[in-house]
Amino acid sequence: MKKTVLITGSNGMFGQDAARLFVDSGYDVLRANKADLDVTNLAQVREIFAKNKIDFVLHAAAYTKVDDAETNKDLVFLINAEGAENMAIASGEKAVPMIYISTDYVFDGEKGTAYLVSDKTNTINVYGASKLAGEENVRRENPMHYIARTSWLYGDHGKNFVDTMVQLSKNQTSLKVVNDQLGCPTWTCDLAEGIKNLIEKKMPFGIYHLCGGGFTTWFGLAKKIFEILKIEIEVIPVSTAEFPRPAKRPRFSAMDNGGLIRNWEEGLADYLVGKHK
Ligand SMILES: NC(=O)c1ccc[n+]([C@@H]2O[C@H](COP(=O)([O-])OP(=O)(O)OC[C@H]3O[C@@H](n4cnc5c(N)ncnc54)[C@H](OP(=O)(O)O)[C@@H]3O)[C@@H](O)[C@H]2O)c1
Repeated sequence: MKKTVLITGSNGMFGQDAARLFVDSGYDVLRANKADLDVTNLAQVREIFAKNKIDFVLHAAAYTKVDDAETNKDLVFLINAEGAENMAIASGEKAVPMIYISTDYVFDGEKGTAYLVSDKTNTINVYGASKLAGEENVRRENPMHYIARTSWLYGDHGKNFVDTMVQLSKNQTSLKVVNDQLGCPTWTCDLAEGIKNLIEKKMPFGIYHLCGGGFTTWFGLAKKIFEILKIEIEVIPVSTAEFPRPAKRPRFSAMDNGGLIRNWEEGLADYLVGKHK
């Protein structure tokens, strides 16, 4: 019999690709976007579990505007921390496993080498703090959980760095890109595949780093995009100080993914070949 996955944030950049992958893999997908299911409303969340037979939940809904989050703390915590808590309470009550998508921004970026799942968290911006609170809520309310931390996401259905670079290259001969933040670029489809593997391989519940393998800087990522697409453009490395933003970013938030997702360059090449060639 087909298994049913409930996906919150199903209209988001990741949610759309995740829904497609699960449908293509033979699952029934219950897509929930904000209009159908406001995750901040526990009664609504409980109702969806009461009315449907759900085998597992992929909680991808979130407040994701990292800079705006700095001045909207209450709303950000309501959606990211309480929303995750509501999903964990309702799924926990029905003994339904839950996957919570978290972020590299649970770390301060000061370790200097790739973070392991066992490393201590320490947040430096509101978005990161709210997502970490979400992790803690999920752990407390539903023991059947996968916390999947990902980073630097790009995909077909949302604003992202990769598409922005390609767009900018159409009208500019040179681009300045930050070269002192390191992280792991991750294609949404690779993340969805990684999550499917956690479930299908019946991996133990707990925390996983599901990001592209290896790491780079935003400058390194930009250079690789133009190399793959054979776009001639000057890319100038600059420091974060040249592009001040409201939210602090971790300097080195690369995570060790334990081989669960292929190298970031491979995912990027597949994404760009499908999308921009
Ligand atoms: N993007 C990244 O680089 C990145 C990195 C690390 C982790 N993540 C995590 O990955 C997940 C997916 O991110 P994404 O980039 O796909 O984000 P996204 O495109 O912004 O999608 C998030 C979705 O959540 C929905 N949402 C917001 N408030 C909601 C509410 N109260 N109830 C129900 N739905 C609500 C949004 O709907 P509206 O648009 O209508 O508000 C949106 O469709 C998130 O958990 C995010 O924290 C993302």
